[in-house]
Amino acid sequence: MQTFTSVIKMQEWCKEQKREGKTIGLVPTMGYLHQGHLALVREARRACDIVVVSIFVNPIQFGVGEDFEDYPRDLDKDSLLLEQGQVDAVFAPSIKEMYPLGYNSFVEVLGEISQKLCAQSRPIHFRGVTTVVSKLFHICLPDQAFFGQKDAQQVMIIEKMVRELNFPLSIVRVPIVREEDGLALSSRNVYLDAEQRKQALVLNRSLQAARELIQSGERNVAKVKSLLEQTIKTSPGAIIGYAEIYDASDLTEVEEIKGQVLIALAVKFGTTRLIDNLLVEV
Ligand code: PAJ
Repeated sequence: MQTFTSVIKMQEWCKEQKREGKTIGLVPTMGYLHQGHLALVREARRACDIVVVSIFVNPIQFGVGEDFEDYPRDLDKDSLLLEQGQVDAVFAPSIKEMYPLGYNSFVEVLGEISQKLCAQSRPIHFRGVTTVVSKLFHICLPDQAFFGQKDAQQVMIIEKMVRELNFPLSIVRVPIVREEDGLALSSRNVYLDAEQRKQALVLNRSLQAARELIQSGERNVAKVKSLLEQTIKTSPGAIIGYAEIYDASDLTEVEEIKGQVLIALAVKFGTTRLIDNLLVEV
Protein backbone atom coordinates (compact mmCIF):
# COMPACT_ATOMS: atom_id res chain seq x y z
CA MET A 1 0.00 0.00 0.00
CA GLN A 2 1.31 3.42 -0.94
CA THR A 3 0.63 6.60 0.98
CA PHE A 4 0.50 9.95 -0.80
CA THR A 5 0.38 13.39 0.75
CA SER A 6 0.97 15.38 -2.45
CA VAL A 7 -1.93 16.22 -4.77
CA ILE A 8 0.24 16.07 -7.89
CA LYS A 9 1.86 12.75 -6.97
CA MET A 10 -1.51 11.18 -6.14
CA GLN A 11 -2.96 12.44 -9.42
CA GLU A 12 0.03 11.21 -11.45
CA TRP A 13 -0.22 7.78 -9.85
CA CYS A 14 -3.94 7.56 -10.61
CA LYS A 15 -3.35 8.67 -14.21
CA GLU A 16 -0.77 5.90 -14.55
CA GLN A 17 -3.25 3.31 -13.25
CA LYS A 18 -5.80 4.50 -15.81
CA ARG A 19 -3.22 4.36 -18.63
CA GLU A 20 -2.75 0.70 -17.68
CA GLY A 21 -6.47 0.22 -18.17
CA LYS A 22 -7.31 -0.23 -14.50
CA THR A 23 -10.53 0.96 -12.88
CA ILE A 24 -10.25 3.05 -9.73
CA GLY A 25 -12.58 2.96 -6.72
CA LEU A 26 -12.38 5.89 -4.29
CA VAL A 27 -13.52 5.86 -0.67
CA PRO A 28 -13.43 9.40 0.78
CA THR A 29 -13.16 9.51 4.59
CA MET A 30 -12.11 11.73 7.45
CA GLY A 31 -10.29 8.83 9.09
CA TYR A 32 -10.59 7.28 12.54
CA LEU A 33 -11.84 4.32 10.60
CA HIS A 34 -14.41 1.82 11.81
CA GLN A 35 -16.34 -1.09 10.31
CA GLY A 36 -18.68 1.33 8.51
CA HIS A 37 -15.76 2.78 6.54
CA LEU A 38 -14.35 -0.71 6.00
CA ALA A 39 -17.64 -1.86 4.47
CA LEU A 40 -17.14 0.86 1.84
CA VAL A 41 -13.58 -0.35 1.28
CA ARG A 42 -14.78 -3.94 0.81
CA GLU A 43 -17.35 -2.82 -1.77
CA ALA A 44 -14.68 -0.85 -3.63
CA ARG A 45 -12.29 -3.83 -3.48
CA ARG A 46 -14.97 -6.05 -5.00
CA ALA A 47 -15.90 -3.63 -7.77
CA CYS A 48 -12.62 -2.02 -8.88
CA ASP A 49 -9.05 -2.97 -9.85
CA ILE A 50 -7.50 -0.24 -7.70
CA VAL A 51 -8.81 1.06 -4.37
CA VAL A 52 -7.85 4.53 -3.13
CA VAL A 53 -8.94 5.73 0.32
CA SER A 54 -8.62 9.39 1.23
CA ILE A 55 -8.18 10.47 4.83
CA PHE A 56 -8.65 14.19 5.32
CA VAL A 57 -10.45 16.02 8.12
CA ASN A 58 -11.84 18.72 5.89
CA PRO A 59 -11.84 22.06 7.74
CA ILE A 60 -14.25 23.82 5.38
CA GLN A 61 -17.14 21.48 6.21
CA PHE A 62 -16.99 22.34 9.93
CA GLY A 63 -18.76 25.45 11.21
CA VAL A 64 -17.54 27.79 13.93
CA GLY A 65 -17.81 26.07 17.31
CA GLU A 66 -18.01 22.58 15.76
CA ASP A 67 -15.56 19.78 16.51
CA PHE A 68 -12.88 20.30 13.84
CA GLU A 69 -10.01 20.56 16.36
CA ASP A 70 -11.30 17.73 18.53
CA TYR A 71 -12.26 15.40 15.67
CA PRO A 72 -10.55 12.06 16.47
CA ARG A 73 -7.48 11.23 14.38
CA ASP A 74 -5.24 8.11 14.23
CA LEU A 75 -3.44 7.80 10.91
CA ASP A 76 -1.21 4.91 12.03
CA LYS A 77 -4.11 2.73 13.08
CA ASP A 78 -6.10 3.73 9.96
CA SER A 79 -3.15 2.77 7.74
CA LEU A 80 -2.93 -0.64 9.38
CA LEU A 81 -6.65 -1.29 8.85
CA LEU A 82 -6.44 -0.21 5.20
CA GLU A 83 -3.37 -2.35 4.61
CA GLN A 84 -5.35 -5.33 5.95
CA GLY A 85 -8.24 -4.32 3.70
CA GLN A 86 -5.95 -4.62 0.67
CA VAL A 87 -6.18 -0.99 -0.24
CA ASP A 88 -3.73 0.10 -2.95
CA ALA A 89 -3.23 3.73 -2.02
CA VAL A 90 -4.03 6.14 0.80
CA PHE A 91 -4.29 9.85 0.11
CA ALA A 92 -3.69 11.83 3.30
CA PRO A 93 -2.90 15.44 2.37
CA SER A 94 -2.27 18.32 4.76
CA ILE A 95 -4.68 21.24 4.94
CA LYS A 96 -2.14 23.45 3.15
CA GLU A 97 -1.86 20.93 0.33
CA MET A 98 -5.62 20.96 -0.26
CA TYR A 99 -6.25 24.64 0.50
CA PRO A 100 -3.12 26.68 -0.19
CA LEU A 101 -3.00 30.29 0.91
CA GLY A 102 -5.53 32.33 -1.06
CA TYR A 103 -7.70 29.32 -1.91
CA ASN A 104 -11.08 30.59 -3.09
CA SER A 105 -12.98 28.03 -5.20
CA PHE A 106 -16.11 26.23 -4.03
CA VAL A 107 -18.63 23.79 -5.46
CA GLU A 108 -22.18 24.11 -4.22
CA VAL A 109 -25.39 22.22 -4.89
CA LEU A 110 -28.37 24.52 -4.37
CA GLY A 111 -32.04 23.75 -3.89
CA GLU A 112 -34.30 22.12 -1.36
CA ILE A 113 -32.05 19.09 -0.89
CA SER A 114 -29.29 21.35 0.49
CA GLN A 115 -31.50 23.38 2.81
CA LYS A 116 -33.12 20.73 4.99
CA LEU A 117 -32.08 18.34 7.76
CA CYS A 118 -28.41 18.87 8.63
CA ALA A 119 -28.20 22.10 6.58
CA GLN A 120 -30.51 23.82 9.07
CA SER A 121 -27.96 23.72 11.88
CA ARG A 122 -24.87 23.42 9.65
CA PRO A 123 -25.36 26.00 6.88
CA ILE A 124 -21.87 25.77 5.31
CA HIS A 125 -21.41 22.03 5.82
CA PHE A 126 -22.52 20.64 2.46
CA ARG A 127 -20.70 23.31 0.47
CA GLY A 128 -17.54 22.13 2.23
CA VAL A 129 -18.37 18.50 1.47
CA THR A 130 -19.14 19.02 -2.24
CA THR A 131 -16.01 21.17 -2.63
CA VAL A 132 -13.65 18.61 -1.09
CA VAL A 133 -15.33 15.68 -2.82
CA SER A 134 -15.01 17.47 -6.19
CA LYS A 135 -11.33 18.02 -5.51
CA LEU A 136 -10.88 14.36 -4.52
CA PHE A 137 -12.62 13.26 -7.74
CA HIS A 138 -10.25 15.41 -9.81
CA ILE A 139 -7.21 14.17 -7.91
CA CYS A 140 -8.02 10.45 -7.70
CA LEU A 141 -9.92 10.04 -11.02
CA PRO A 142 -12.29 7.32 -9.77
CA ASP A 143 -14.60 5.29 -11.97
CA GLN A 144 -16.71 4.62 -8.89
CA ALA A 145 -16.85 6.43 -5.56
CA PHE A 146 -18.31 4.82 -2.43
CA PHE A 147 -20.43 6.60 0.18
CA GLY A 148 -22.41 5.39 3.18
CA GLN A 149 -26.17 5.61 3.53
CA LYS A 150 -25.39 6.67 7.12
CA ASP A 151 -25.02 10.21 5.77
CA ALA A 152 -28.13 10.01 3.60
CA GLN A 153 -28.39 13.70 2.76
CA GLN A 154 -24.67 13.86 1.95
CA VAL A 155 -24.84 11.02 -0.58
CA MET A 156 -27.99 12.49 -2.16
CA ILE A 157 -26.30 15.87 -2.62
CA ILE A 158 -23.17 14.23 -4.06
CA GLU A 159 -25.27 12.18 -6.49
CA LYS A 160 -27.00 15.37 -7.63
CA MET A 161 -23.66 17.13 -8.06
CA VAL A 162 -22.23 14.24 -10.10
CA ARG A 163 -25.34 14.19 -12.31
CA GLU A 164 -25.60 17.92 -12.84
CA LEU A 165 -21.88 18.62 -13.30
CA ASN A 166 -21.36 15.51 -15.46
CA PHE A 167 -18.57 13.96 -13.42
CA PRO A 168 -17.54 10.84 -15.39
CA LEU A 169 -18.03 8.38 -12.53
CA SER A 170 -20.74 6.58 -10.64
CA ILE A 171 -21.66 6.80 -6.97
CA VAL A 172 -22.21 3.60 -5.02
CA ARG A 173 -24.29 3.74 -1.84
CA VAL A 174 -23.40 1.32 0.95
CA PRO A 175 -25.95 0.43 3.67
CA ILE A 176 -25.50 1.58 7.28
CA VAL A 177 -23.27 -0.63 9.44
CA ARG A 178 -24.49 -0.90 13.05
CA GLU A 179 -23.18 -2.26 16.32
CA GLU A 180 -24.88 -5.40 17.53
CA ASP A 181 -27.20 -3.33 19.73
CA GLY A 182 -28.26 -1.16 16.78
CA LEU A 183 -26.15 1.99 17.23
CA ALA A 184 -24.91 3.16 13.83
CA LEU A 185 -21.10 3.22 13.75
CA SER A 186 -19.64 6.73 13.72
CA SER A 187 -16.23 8.20 14.44
CA ARG A 188 -18.06 10.55 16.81
CA ASN A 189 -19.35 7.69 19.01
CA VAL A 190 -16.06 7.95 20.96
CA TYR A 191 -17.33 11.25 22.41
CA LEU A 192 -20.15 9.42 24.28
CA ASP A 193 -19.75 8.40 27.90
CA ALA A 194 -21.22 5.06 29.03
CA GLU A 195 -24.58 6.55 29.97
CA GLN A 196 -24.91 8.54 26.73
CA ARG A 197 -23.88 5.46 24.75
CA LYS A 198 -26.85 3.64 26.30
CA GLN A 199 -29.20 6.53 25.64
CA ALA A 200 -28.10 6.76 22.02
CA LEU A 201 -29.79 3.42 21.32
CA VAL A 202 -33.01 5.41 21.18
CA LEU A 203 -32.06 6.51 17.65
CA ASN A 204 -32.36 3.07 16.11
CA ARG A 205 -35.21 2.13 18.47
CA SER A 206 -37.32 5.06 17.30
CA LEU A 207 -36.56 4.37 13.63
CA GLN A 208 -37.65 0.75 14.09
CA ALA A 209 -40.82 1.83 15.93
CA ALA A 210 -41.66 4.18 13.02
CA ARG A 211 -41.02 1.41 10.52
CA GLU A 212 -43.28 -0.98 12.41
CA LEU A 213 -46.06 1.60 12.56
CA ILE A 214 -45.82 2.13 8.78
CA GLN A 215 -45.74 -1.60 8.16
CA SER A 216 -48.85 -2.00 10.27
CA GLY A 217 -50.63 0.27 7.76
CA GLU A 218 -50.22 3.83 9.07
CA ARG A 219 -49.68 6.27 6.19
CA ASN A 220 -50.08 9.61 7.94
CA VAL A 221 -46.66 11.28 8.22
CA ALA A 222 -47.66 13.47 11.19
CA LYS A 223 -48.65 10.40 13.18
CA VAL A 224 -45.43 8.55 12.40
CA LYS A 225 -43.38 11.64 13.26
CA SER A 226 -45.23 11.95 16.54
CA LEU A 227 -44.29 8.36 17.44
CA LEU A 228 -40.68 9.08 16.48
CA GLU A 229 -40.55 12.11 18.78
CA GLN A 230 -42.31 10.35 21.64
CA THR A 231 -39.90 7.44 21.42
CA ILE A 232 -36.84 9.69 21.38
CA LYS A 233 -38.16 11.58 24.40
CA THR A 234 -38.20 8.36 26.45
CA SER A 235 -34.45 8.86 26.62
CA PRO A 236 -33.90 11.55 29.28
CA GLY A 237 -30.71 13.06 27.85
CA ALA A 238 -31.80 13.19 24.21
CA ILE A 239 -32.24 16.62 22.60
CA ILE A 240 -33.91 16.39 19.20
CA GLY A 241 -32.29 18.37 16.38
CA TYR A 242 -34.69 17.01 13.81
CA ALA A 243 -36.93 13.98 13.29
CA GLU A 244 -38.27 14.17 9.74
CA ILE A 245 -39.84 12.08 7.03
CA TYR A 246 -39.24 13.12 3.42
CA ASP A 247 -39.53 11.71 -0.06
CA ALA A 248 -36.38 9.61 -0.39
CA SER A 249 -35.61 10.75 -3.93
CA ASP A 250 -35.38 14.51 -3.37
CA LEU A 251 -36.22 15.32 0.27
CA THR A 252 -39.50 17.02 -0.65
CA GLU A 253 -42.31 17.13 1.91
CA VAL A 254 -44.78 14.26 2.08
CA GLU A 255 -48.05 14.11 3.99
CA GLU A 256 -48.90 10.53 3.15
CA ILE A 257 -46.33 7.79 3.10
CA LYS A 258 -46.01 6.37 -0.38
CA GLY A 259 -43.16 5.05 -2.49
CA GLN A 260 -39.86 5.32 -0.66
CA VAL A 261 -39.46 7.69 2.27
CA LEU A 262 -36.41 8.66 4.30
CA ILE A 263 -36.85 8.84 8.05
CA ALA A 264 -33.98 10.99 9.28
CA LEU A 265 -32.88 11.90 12.80
CA ALA A 266 -30.35 14.18 14.43
CA VAL A 267 -30.22 13.97 18.20
CA LYS A 268 -27.79 15.45 20.72
CA PHE A 269 -26.54 13.56 23.76
CA GLY A 270 -24.61 16.05 25.87
CA THR A 271 -22.52 17.93 23.32
CA THR A 272 -22.44 15.03 20.86
CA ARG A 273 -24.77 15.25 17.89
CA LEU A 274 -25.55 11.92 16.25
CA ILE A 275 -27.45 11.27 13.03
CA ASP A 276 -29.23 8.15 11.85
CA ASN A 277 -31.82 7.26 9.22
CA LEU A 278 -33.91 4.56 7.67
CA LEU A 279 -35.35 4.10 4.19
CA VAL A 280 -38.87 2.65 4.18
CA GLU A 281 -40.72 1.58 1.06
CA VAL A 282 -44.43 0.90 0.86
P1 PAJ B 1 -16.68 10.22 7.35
O1 PAJ B 1 -17.63 10.67 8.38
O2 PAJ B 1 -15.32 9.75 7.74
O3 PAJ B 1 -17.39 9.09 6.53
C1 PAJ B 1 -16.76 8.55 5.38
C2 PAJ B 1 -17.77 7.66 4.68
O4 PAJ B 1 -18.11 6.57 5.54
C3 PAJ B 1 -19.09 8.40 4.35
O5 PAJ B 1 -19.51 8.04 3.05
C4 PAJ B 1 -20.02 7.87 5.42
O6 PAJ B 1 -21.39 7.88 5.03
C5 PAJ B 1 -19.51 6.45 5.59
N1 PAJ B 1 -19.94 5.90 6.88
C6 PAJ B 1 -19.72 6.42 8.12
N2 PAJ B 1 -20.32 5.65 9.07
C7 PAJ B 1 -20.92 4.64 8.41
C8 PAJ B 1 -21.71 3.52 8.83
N3 PAJ B 1 -22.00 3.29 10.11
N4 PAJ B 1 -22.17 2.68 7.88
C9 PAJ B 1 -21.90 2.90 6.57
N5 PAJ B 1 -21.16 3.94 6.11
C10 PAJ B 1 -20.68 4.79 7.02
O7 PAJ B 1 -18.56 11.59 5.47
C11 PAJ B 1 -17.44 12.05 5.58
O8 PAJ B 1 -16.43 11.42 6.30
C12 PAJ B 1 -17.00 13.35 4.93
O9 PAJ B 1 -18.10 14.23 4.88
C13 PAJ B 1 -16.40 13.17 3.50
C14 PAJ B 1 -17.41 12.56 2.53
C15 PAJ B 1 -15.14 12.29 3.58
C16 PAJ B 1 -15.98 14.54 2.95
O10 PAJ B 1 -15.08 15.18 3.78
